[in-house]
Amino acid sequence: MPAIVIVGAQYGDEGKGKITDFLASKADVIVRYQGGSNAGHTVVVGGEEFRLHLIPSGILYPEKICIIGNGVVLDPPVLIEEINYLKSRNKSVENIRVSNRAHVIFPYHKMLDELEEKRRGNSKIGTTLRGIGPAYMDKAARAGVRVADLLDETGFPEILRSRLKDKNEVLKNVYGVVGPDYSSLLEEYKRYAEFLRPFVCDTSAAINRFLKEGKKVLFEGAQGSLLDVDHGTYPYVTSSHPTAGGACIGAGVGPTLIDAVIGVAKAYTSRVGDGPFPTELRGEIGNWIREKGQEYGTTTGRPRRVGWFDATMVRYAAQVSGFSSLAITRLDTLSGLPKVNICVAYRLRGRIIDEYPARIEELKECEPVYEELEGWSEDFSRLEEYDQLPDNAKAYLKRLSSAVGIPVSVVSIGRERAQTIGIQRLF
Ligand code: IMP
Repeated sequence: MPAIVIVGAQYGDEGKGKITDFLASKADVIVRYQGGSNAGHTVVVGGEEFRLHLIPSGILYPEKICIIGNGVVLDPPVLIEEINYLKSRNKSVENIRVSNRAHVIFPYHKMLDELEEKRRGNSKIGTTLRGIGPAYMDKAARAGVRVADLLDETGFPEILRSRLKDKNEVLKNVYGVVGPDYSSLLEEYKRYAEFLRPFVCDTSAAINRFLKEGKKVLFEGAQGSLLDVDHGTYPYVTSSHPTAGGACIGAGVGPTLIDAVIGVAKAYTSRVGDGPFPTELRGEIGNWIREKGQEYGTTTGRPRRVGWFDATMVRYAAQVSGFSSLAITRLDTLSGLPKVNICVAYRLRGRIIDEYPARIEELKECEPVYEELEGWSEDFSRLEEYDQLPDNAKAYLKRLSSAVGIPVSVVSIGRERAQTIGIQRLF
């Protein structure tokens, strides 16, 4: 299977980074296809922890090629800091490639993100304030700046002058604040351009070449299906396409080249930021899971909201992305609970519904229909085989899988790369 897409099946933070890192051992190329530094993944290898925002998790293998695709919105200082951080920890950065078509984030995007959130007041989205929405808005409005423009020594000063003029007018006239200064911004971004130049290429051409050569390519999604701007809980979504289709657009490959899609889901659910969450647990069990699972955002440090596994939602995620299999993470976190619940359906105004509601007002009214299963308390973090899992944990996975209607191919039972059990051969 030469091309596999890894997709978050919930609201993000499912542990995609860890699953990518696990599968990356057998891949040649790892591609990040959307989002930006709103994402954060933590990978633990040999007791060492690595926190990344933009660079794909495959970077921890020196020989793998790691690509930031055209669908990503790139904050240059964040990428540069990440490259320097990896160098300082003796990781090779030579194989990083950055798309010349990726859009660039500027300080005015972050200012606008923050100002808009303030303006929304009680109906704020709870964004990561990394400028993601405003950067994608500029891309769609054809008012963005791409990496290729940033590297164009003759054209860039004029593009920046014109973009900044427009933005500073909005900042002044709509929000009453002073925007960035042209000369210092130009000098700053020219420095970034020189740092990034050696990494930049036409990544779509490169990926298609790798696929032709028979190389194995992993496409790593950021965020989660329910944060997709088309398919998620709109407007409480991000501005890109974390679903599988996003890989084709955000990497520049045709759908005929994709062989499999793996939906990554936690054994429970978490959400950071506002928006509907039908299986949210607000009481003691929720706090217990949050503390045991250390459910605090990698990017913002915000406490995550937690709840039971929602098979109805993951079924919907599987529908829009065509999951071939599921990777279930954080099974270890649930160890110690006497009972565990799975939401198998939603009831809306007394009726079980078949389709995932498009309107959040309806979603807020949906009552989860739970099935209660026996919990388990064994510490199985050192187990290596699926068969060694406690019977109740296996029964939980089996029911979760049948409720979603998709087989489970990978189970993660701890933070370490080694604490991952492959059930099905994927590569
Ligand atoms: P934005 O992507 O910063 O615009 O934020 C939009 C929504 O997506 C907010 O609810 C964020 O909390 C959420 N979000 C963005 N990135 C991530 C992520 O990597 N994990 C989880 N939630 C995220």
